[in-house]
Amino acid sequence: MSTTPELAEKFLMSTGRRLPVTFVRGRGCLVYDEAGREYLDMVAGIAVNLLGHAHPDVAAAVTRQAQTLIHTSNLYFTRPQVALAQRLVALSFPARVFLCNSGAEANETAIKLARKWGSRNRGGAFEIITTTGSFHGRTLATVTAGGQPKYSDPFQPLPTGFVHVDYNDLDAIKSATTDKTVAVMLEPVMGEIGVIPAAGGYLEGVRRWCDEKDLLLILDEVQTGLGRTGRWFAHQHHGITPDVMTLAKGLGGGIPIGACLAAPKADVFEPGDHGSTFGGNPLACAAALAVLEVIERDGLIGHSAEMGEHLHDALKTIGARELRGVGLMRAAEFAEKRAKPFQQACLEAGLVVNAVDDHTVRFVPPLIITAAEIDRAQAAMESAMKGATT
Ligand SMILES: Cc1ncc(COP(=O)(O)O)c(C=O)c1O
Repeated sequence: MSTTPELAEKFLMSTGRRLPVTFVRGRGCLVYDEAGREYLDMVAGIAVNLLGHAHPDVAAAVTRQAQTLIHTSNLYFTRPQVALAQRLVALSFPARVFLCNSGAEANETAIKLARKWGSRNRGGAFEIITTTGSFHGRTLATVTAGGQPKYSDPFQPLPTGFVHVDYNDLDAIKSATTDKTVAVMLEPVMGEIGVIPAAGGYLEGVRRWCDEKDLLLILDEVQTGLGRTGRWFAHQHHGITPDVMTLAKGLGGGIPIGACLAAPKADVFEPGDHGSTFGGNPLACAAALAVLEVIERDGLIGHSAEMGEHLHDALKTIGARELRGVGLMRAAEFAEKRAKPFQQACLEAGLVVNAVDDHTVRFVPPLIITAAEIDRAQAAMESAMKGATT
């Protein structure tokens, strides 16, 4: 009989390199493979499972909604969709919401909003300034917006209208601004490239520059949003608000859903401008409402900040040359090319971590992780270090 990896090789397109493990179930911060082996999950579906695996409140909300109404299309109103939009606005800033299915789609929405706003208010300006190393998704526009040519180069010709500058360099944004510029689009912490936080004053400076030049500030909070950094949204650490914010990943606790929030200034879509068959369907919205409710009820924002400090301390013992991050979004960078052997050794030690490149390992565990689980991860990492040579 073929194994799951053999069947995957035969029937799934080769879009990514997978680790040699097949997960079949999970509970809290633990996941189990086909052989029943237990792992502590510090990746959480890449910053998705905010409440861990099989959270009873999410499972109950999804079950209840599945037994009531799974989908109707956006030709009609549904209560969970309106309730979710209302909740997201209450947690963030005065805005209206477009609900979709993923981070890339939320960012496509933001890009379309910016272009329409530019054609209405800035004489057809359409260029968006983004940063080198950023990641905004895998659609054609979002790989182009993202500043990593390895994801966009194979797909030439790319859409026009994106200008890349160094992250944490306000002067570079100022120099790149022209009459064609309509928006600046940033991650408050660059996640996929290896957890690079905004330097003190950077986002505040970009906000001021956007106000001065009448540009939209788009913040991609797909990875940083919803408690990951120890605040509901990462921009709240900086005392600013964006004009447009995108969310996805953790929002549905594992059920696919994305959101694009636009402040009144940027809220320029008219009927017919945009849409999505599945976007914000009742099932996904019911899951998201349950996630938000549990985060609030269980005080997981403060817990994320506290556990983030604990994780930072735990990572001090693994011999990294640099530790970076905010809240429960952390990375350890090794001087040597040790990240991938380390990831493999951790897996063998029953710990799931994410090597983003040869040098850097990312940790984005569920927000419900406990101090005892972080201590267990530390012990596994210390033993993995012994096996992880270059
Ligand atoms: C900051 C950021 N934006 C957008 C995306 C794309 O999200 P999705 O994979 O749901 O399209 C990601 C995914 O890693 C991300 O980290």
